[in-house]
Amino acid sequence: MIRAMRPVIIAANWKMNTTPADAGELAREIARRTRVDGVTRVICPPFLCLAAVRDALAEADPDVAIGAQNVHHELAGAYTGEISAPMLDGLATWVILGHSERRRDAGETDELIGAKLARAVEAGLRPILCVGEQLADREAGRAIAVAEAQLGGCLTGLDPGRLGAAQLVIAYEPVWAIGTGRNARGSDAAAMAEAIRSTLSGLGWGETSRDVPILYGGSVTAANIGEFFAEPSIDGALVGGASLKPDEMAGIVGRAGLTAAARLAAIA
Ligand code: 13P
Repeated sequence: MIRAMRPVIIAANWKMNTTPADAGELAREIARRTRVDGVTRVICPPFLCLAAVRDALAEADPDVAIGAQNVHHELAGAYTGEISAPMLDGLATWVILGHSERRRDAGETDELIGAKLARAVEAGLRPILCVGEQLADREAGRAIAVAEAQLGGCLTGLDPGRLGAAQLVIAYEPVWAIGTGRNARGSDAAAMAEAIRSTLSGLGWGETSRDVPILYGGSVTAANIGEFFAEPSIDGALVGGASLKPDEMAGIVGRAGLTAAARLAAIA
């Protein structure tokens, strides 16, 4: 059986940057500079900027998808200051969950992230689940074990069929590579991608674990993205700092387009 090719995805995590006054213009500029066949583009602005980005992209390029950076693990209720998945209706179709900055600053546990995943999927959002080790874990040879434990903790109890239908994406983001200018090696990211797919298989995903897109994140730039796309097991990137720079995004998505074209040619 010929399996359908996995999509090539570049997701921009703007983190706590931009305001409603300037986010639309940045989204428009990125959209204009990244029109490349075969690449799924996603922009994840802060909650407050979602409407501005939606309006800008509706006009500039409706092919660019919009994601949130988090959702609450309940649907509604007495949770001051929180945002639930159903509230994103009409604003976002993707959501980043389990980012290491939220694990660090908001104390998010794997169990909580699993509950958020369930709410996101119920609301029809496409989740990007982040996993990744600390530097000490990598130095101690525990990187893969950490990611396996995170996946197990986040996904246990969730129906693989439902998550598969929601087109779950996994982002491998080693914590020591985020915002440091020190990216992982492509070969290490590829080894992690293989480990992630075999972990999914062990969690009941079976053969469909091969269809789950895996992104790399951590100091990705236009200059180093080629190292990750040289690895067939890596399907794209979750980009932080560089995603605020249209020049960088143009270079990253341009390189992604070469991989998308090569994959298409390989199955044609
Ligand atoms: P940087 O690209 O700034 O290292 O951030 C990566 C990241 O955390 C994306 O979610």
